[in-house]
Amino acid sequence: MYDLVLSGKLVDPIDGVYEANIGITKGVISQITQDPIEGKKLKLPDASLIFPGFIDPHVHLRQDISGKWNYKEDFLSGSKSAAHGGVTVAADMPNNPTPATTPEAIVEKINLSKDALIDILFYGGVLGNLDKLKAMSTLVCGYKIYAGETTGSMTIGLDEIEKALRIISDTDKPVVFHAGEKLKEILDICENYDVRVHIAHVSSIIEINLIEKYKKKMQLTCEATPHHLFFSEKDKEKIGDLSTVNPPLMPEKDRAAVMDALKTGTIDMLATDHAPHTLEDKAKGASGFPQLDTYGPFVSWLIEKGFSLQRIAQITSFNAANLLKINNIARICNNHLANLTVLDMQAEKVDKLYTKCGWSPFSDYEFPGRVVCTIYRGNIIMRNGVVS
Ligand code: NCD
Ligand code: ZN
Ligand code: ZN
Repeated sequence: MYDLVLSGKLVDPIDGVYEANIGITKGVISQITQDPIEGKKLKLPDASLIFPGFIDPHVHLRQDISGKWNYKEDFLSGSKSAAHGGVTVAADMPNNPTPATTPEAIVEKINLSKDALIDILFYGGVLGNLDKLKAMSTLVCGYKIYAGETTGSMTIGLDEIEKALRIISDTDKPVVFHAGEKLKEILDICENYDVRVHIAHVSSIIEINLIEKYKKKMQLTCEATPHHLFFSEKDKEKIGDLSTVNPPLMPEKDRAAVMDALKTGTIDMLATDHAPHTLEDKAKGASGFPQLDTYGPFVSWLIEKGFSLQRIAQITSFNAANLLKINNIARICNNHLANLTVLDMQAEKVDKLYTKCGWSPFSDYEFPGRVVCTIYRGNIIMRNGVVS
């Protein structure tokens, strides 16, 4: 008898798509079979697609020891928003009012995140803390470096970047760059170090071309956001005040190139860059879009736009798990964690949101599919739009 049994079309990033029954025991996938199996059956729509739980390598959940930005989002509300969108693991950025640049600040965030419904991992920031980077390495999933101005003002220069790389290359953690205008300079420095480099929110043809070239000579991955895949400059008027984001929305030809690069492989993964700011803060110029509630519906849009289901499993979980070195996850395989996200290609309008900031750039948009349920370590944390 399994604790939970799911049946449907399984989508694995390596094995591809096939029909089977999954048996879950103690939060772990313990059986995958075409034969009928005994246990508590989860009733799903007939055409359900069962994916490894989505993993989001780039979110800003805002909560820290200062509490100053808790009104925008906190670990509980952010994790509900994630569960709503089908996300079971998220990696949180360090640009807090108390920047996550010391072991103490990161431990505080780890403690504050204990009530989250999903796994939250933490990046360590780099800002005047070269002497602390090494000590942070066991607490973080990676390091984040800002080479351009954005929320939190953590920009550092190329000299400090190079000094940080020397230290980070002695750890096994990747370094994620908000590259701004400095992508070429950053890649030129990084190629001299034995370090895994990841470029956040790729949004332009220039970036794609550079990354394609440098991927041949170094360990390099990158991500794209739902907003840069969906919106372009011409949507700015429609979205109005709310459209401010870093990097900005780009011309249509860049948007189309980002779509193509994510579909064919130069861009490795989807990342929400969930940046919850209240409407009040947006009116004052805050940059970023809340994106977690709508992650799964957005994925259904990618499916409609011709992404293969197997590619979807790679860009929504497998490649991020490799970046963050999370084991026994992101595949539908025996002995892997039972984190599963079930999609149904039934159109649904964006309506209820769990993010504390209370708005979405997709409000009232009808996506071609919806998340039926999110399973985290064998527990159903969201079903039919209701998080529990
Ligand atoms: C992000 C934020 O608000 O923290 N904003 C954004 O426009 N993307 C920061 C960032 O990722 O650059
Ligand atoms: Zn950024
Ligand atoms: Zn970000």
